[in-house]
Amino acid sequence: MIILLPVLLGIFLLGGAFIPAHEKARSGPEDPIARKVDSVLALMTLEEKIGQMTLYTTDWGSTGPTIRPGYADDIRAGNCGALFNSHTAAFTRELQRIAVEESRLKIPLLFGFDVVHGYKTMFPIPLGQAASWDMEAIERAAEVAAAEAAAAGLNWTFAPMLDVTRDPRWGRVMEGPGEDPFLGAAAARAQVKGFQGDSFDNADRVLACVKHFAAYGAPIGGRDYNTVDMSERTFREVYLPPYRAGVEAGAWTVMASFNDIDGVPATGNSWLMGDILRGEWNFPGFVVTDYTGINEMVSHGVVANEKEAGELAVLAGVEMDMQSAAYQNHLKQSVREGKVPEARIDEAVRHILYTKFLLGLFDDPYKFCNKEREQRVLLSQEHQDASRDVARRSIVLLRNEGVLPLSKEIKTLAVIGPLADDKDNLIGAWSGAGEGRHCVSLLTGIRSKLGKEANILYAKGCEIEGDDQSGFAEALAAARKADAVILAIGEHKDMSGEATSKAMIRIPGQQEELARQLAATGKPVAVVLMNGRPLVMPWLAENAPALLECWWLGTQAGNAIADVLFGDYNPSGKLPITFPRHEGQIPIYYSYKNTGRPFNPDSKWTTKYIDIPNTPQFPFGYGLSYTTFRYSAPKVDRAVFRRGQEVKITVTVENAGRLAGEEVVQLYLRDLVASTTRPVKELKGFQKIMLKPGERREVQFTLTENDFAFYTRTMQWAAETGSFDLMVGGSSDEVQTVRVTMIE
Ligand code: NOJ
Repeated sequence: MIILLPVLLGIFLLGGAFIPAHEKARSGPEDPIARKVDSVLALMTLEEKIGQMTLYTTDWGSTGPTIRPGYADDIRAGNCGALFNSHTAAFTRELQRIAVEESRLKIPLLFGFDVVHGYKTMFPIPLGQAASWDMEAIERAAEVAAAEAAAAGLNWTFAPMLDVTRDPRWGRVMEGPGEDPFLGAAAARAQVKGFQGDSFDNADRVLACVKHFAAYGAPIGGRDYNTVDMSERTFREVYLPPYRAGVEAGAWTVMASFNDIDGVPATGNSWLMGDILRGEWNFPGFVVTDYTGINEMVSHGVVANEKEAGELAVLAGVEMDMQSAAYQNHLKQSVREGKVPEARIDEAVRHILYTKFLLGLFDDPYKFCNKEREQRVLLSQEHQDASRDVARRSIVLLRNEGVLPLSKEIKTLAVIGPLADDKDNLIGAWSGAGEGRHCVSLLTGIRSKLGKEANILYAKGCEIEGDDQSGFAEALAAARKADAVILAIGEHKDMSGEATSKAMIRIPGQQEELARQLAATGKPVAVVLMNGRPLVMPWLAENAPALLECWWLGTQAGNAIADVLFGDYNPSGKLPITFPRHEGQIPIYYSYKNTGRPFNPDSKWTTKYIDIPNTPQFPFGYGLSYTTFRYSAPKVDRAVFRRGQEVKITVTVENAGRLAGEEVVQLYLRDLVASTTRPVKELKGFQKIMLKPGERREVQFTLTENDFAFYTRTMQWAAETGSFDLMVGGSSDEVQTVRVTMIE
């Protein structure tokens, strides 16, 4: 389908006080930017237009070899309007200089990079950030990432990654918000706001890119790049909401995903880019491919060659070709042959030029290339403080048999494990320009927490992988001498991320055996897990005296974990994704359907496995605290309400323990009878609250008609009258229910 929508019609509803960054980008005859864009476009040759639609990496990309060297010549010749993987103020300044001094039309370049959870100062991996359920923290992480990236010459990040996934075999689970559309949409808004701010005039922010559009997180078998096939209902209800929230929050760019969906590769999918993105969501910015996504359509088998692939992509609504060189090599010919109207090329280039004007690059092409600012901003103390704060909010306490928090007065502490004194892994995958040498290891964090006087015995014990147990004896000896043991185990950072799908998601090597033997000493053992995905760890999950899920927490990981271990921060994270008992349960998620034969332990002929339970190891929304929270029975302001009326549900939460702490109060909904089967629970709200010991707080959620809506039998987004269960609690598996009924 040829998309001939007028350029930049996107005018979005504003939410709260926040003014989306693109709000200024209204078009129409009076739009001064649109006039400038047209005046530049009028000067351009077809080759130069295609050049603006071309994005190259400057060197070895993080995900594969580059296709074309000689990018400086390309810039000079006007064959390339944007670059990625080029950063630092000095390098981008030099490249920009070539563009604005040596090319015919002097059009400035865009500089993109995968600033996913930090540029130099690394924050927790996005899955970890989602575990904070703290949208201010997530926004702050993106804001700092943007400030550092912008200081290093970048003006565009390929983030946020908003692929909902219910399959922890898929390695990119670390990069997204987890399994839930509602939580994912909230994280999307926070990240877009953090990356882009409220004005493109701001030199501290960068363009955001919602990716990977769409449903890249649902590859069959959890194998990266694999086929995606699902009902349109599931696609719209589960997978689209985070992308949509990102676009509606003002994300100026969108990246097409590698996968096909229902037989059509996303990169050539006019239903996705045209009907949904531009049509339904009024997206005003531009779409970029993911890497060689255009050329890959030949392997997908929907086009015979790269020329046809370029035609399919551009007509489907993809404005910029990352790295395929398909536009560069063939689009001119396609226009000559009448296969692609030049009007479509003009439209695509308008989007891209508009973006450059919006960022102010025509006025000051070096706006983001300031060495002095770069030195001042990167790794600043303020950014370290922010990283530490977000990191400790992202930690999830999975088990605690009275071990934690440890006393700072402890006499002898054993710190054990292959990740205990490790720095390189802490940055996690997709770590931008982050470097392990800037990270605080757990051992260092503990040492600075306890001071020089503390007796800390360190032993590695074993490697992350392999069969070698020769280090066990030293580790066990250290444990026997100690009053408590901290064991840091998990994965290598490159075991999750792109192209790291795994069939078995166990703790690698001898690490779990080391944990078992340490626990057998009878000493209190706190296990610190560092990993990028939910792991299957039956022994630890049922026997570890204490178990902390610490993901990859970034530059300040060691300090943040020490804050939690010694009670300077009371853990408040909740799982954004289900942890299975066994890989055979995957996909496993809280929001399943009841089926016609719901699980009944007394009846064989109900939905279940005969060898393992249906239930997960740790459910979505689960996470402990050093204090306990007591919930009152939830109350509604009206048990029967009319369509269109609001319903308020209120619960009182009390901190019944002795330590101050934060709780994520979660609201779930179940539609009891509807025209299609509905999940047994869907997250519809959450609030993170801080309570002092003994303090009680009333928490209220307001539900509108939209919260009861779904895609009905006829695919209308609508609420149907009838009864609903509203459920409130501190985890998806621990809720109290109140029933309400909607009437016409
Ligand atoms: C491929 C990845 O899928 C995508 O997320 C990333 O932004 C690009 N490569 C560029 O590095």
